[in-house]
Amino acid sequence: MKISVLTMCPEFFDSFLNSVLVARGAKRDLLNIEIVDIRSFAGGSFRHIDDSPYGGGAGMIMRAGPVVSALESVLSENSHTVLFAPAGNTYTQQKAHEYSEKDHLILICGHYEGIDARVYPYCDELLSIGDYVLSGGEIAAMAVIDSVVRLLGTIRSESTEEESFENGLLEYPQYTKPRTFRGQEVPEVLLGGNHEKIRRWRLKESLRKTAETRPDLIAARQLSKEEKQLLEEIKEE
Ligand code: ADE
Repeated sequence: MKISVLTMCPEFFDSFLNSVLVARGAKRDLLNIEIVDIRSFAGGSFRHIDDSPYGGGAGMIMRAGPVVSALESVLSENSHTVLFAPAGNTYTQQKAHEYSEKDHLILICGHYEGIDARVYPYCDELLSIGDYVLSGGEIAAMAVIDSVVRLLGTIRSESTEEESFENGLLEYPQYTKPRTFRGQEVPEVLLGGNHEKIRRWRLKESLRKTAETRPDLIAARQLSKEEKQLLEEIKEE
């Protein structure tokens, strides 16, 4: 898979590209990331990529010309173009899966107070990573790349399959050595080696955690008979 990141801050990505996960993806030929400096597509000696908004108002707006020229320099037949903006669709694990199937993802990092709306028709979608405002799309791009690259086979697949959100529930608690940490014990059931009991305990703890912190996920779920029963047990405790 190829990912092209269009940014006016290419240096933001220096250490990110050397991070274990991304470097491993590149080494195994699963991933090819290119960082494109939007500024190099701005003409004039000042290479200015922003200007004041028509109609007045605070802040500066990214000009359409340099962004679209940068986009056209990387566009291919199979590209999927994403523009980061707080007003976009919300990013989810399901989207991470969709993106991981793409041949070529183009991520455009917006900046300043916004981007000229005439860039939108060149993009397949606007994407937000949450209901808060970042000063630019770079951190959003890193979040997307990280979550997509983990699905490309850069880490053991069993470890992603049971994670939060993968089955619509939050993950159960995990423990490793020592058995006792400052008075806190590892739950007895995990020490016994009874796989069926462990599976049921983990499902119950996933349901407990999800019901506590994300009741919306429980409400949206088609609960199995076992899940309904476990939720009843939790209520009665
Ligand atoms: N740019 C500014 N805020 C953002 C957000 N929440 N998600 C994606 N891009 C952004």
